[in-house]
Amino acid sequence: MFPECTTGYKNEECRVTADWLLAQVPVRPLVGIVCGSGLGGLADMLKDQVVINYSDIPNFPQSTVHGHAGKLVFGTLKGKACVCMQGRFHLYEGYPIQKTTLPIRVFKLMGVETVILTNAAGGLNQNYKVGDIMVIKDHINIPGFAGNNPLVGPNDDRFGVRFPCMSDAYDRGLQQLAHEVATEMGFSVFMHEGVYSVLGGPSFETIAECRMLRLLGADAVGMSTVHEVIVARHCGMKVLALSLITNQAVMDYDSEKKANHQEVLQTGELRAKQLEKLVSNMVSRI
Ligand code: HPA
Repeated sequence: MFPECTTGYKNEECRVTADWLLAQVPVRPLVGIVCGSGLGGLADMLKDQVVINYSDIPNFPQSTVHGHAGKLVFGTLKGKACVCMQGRFHLYEGYPIQKTTLPIRVFKLMGVETVILTNAAGGLNQNYKVGDIMVIKDHINIPGFAGNNPLVGPNDDRFGVRFPCMSDAYDRGLQQLAHEVATEMGFSVFMHEGVYSVLGGPSFETIAECRMLRLLGADAVGMSTVHEVIVARHCGMKVLALSLITNQAVMDYDSEKKANHQEVLQTGELRAKQLEKLVSNMVSRI
């Protein structure tokens, strides 16, 4: 085991984990998928599965959140070799930010070229309904404003450059493909494209915070994804990210609504199957 890392995992440290995993499985994944809260069912769609518990993987963090299984699932989706994280890591679990994104560097070293991330998010855009899906076109990294960025620390040039560009973080071709596939599946009525804002959590946002995020241009808010995207782009993988709107953020002092994790998981269950089908149809066309 390596000590807790607060300055970023080096190439050789991530390689220990990647090589260990590659020795366990026959699959050489080209697509890496990260399942959000309540969206782990995607991993169950993989054929010829090899399932590895996070607790057995050298150097891997452990999932501590209800709705996140804590398993890495290898297999094929519509004939494409994939690896799927059933459960991800969040800042609010207390992990150093570099540790929450370690699996993304491990994906890279296993040969993954495209990363697809899903998450549960609160809708800030008043046109969004619970159960809608948002293709993320950009993000606002609020923890990053205060220096909490997963690339803080010495840069390992073997992964990428010191100052990576983020204006092209979300691959335009993959966004287009997501909309095309959704339209073919009859999903366009509940699809959007928008800006995702990440916060540290675990407390949900106040009304004033939701109003501020909306004013800043965010359409949805959550506690994940952005850090993984930054690390994936740093090392040159293509990224697609999808938010399932599991609740409407409370924007109004007269509202009786209260955000809660139970609602997040229940909505996940309702729309999860459709989101999973959308991703699997997309994967076959990447
Ligand atoms: N806020 C933050 N994170 C979330 C929300 C929310 O309203 N819903 C699901 N994840």
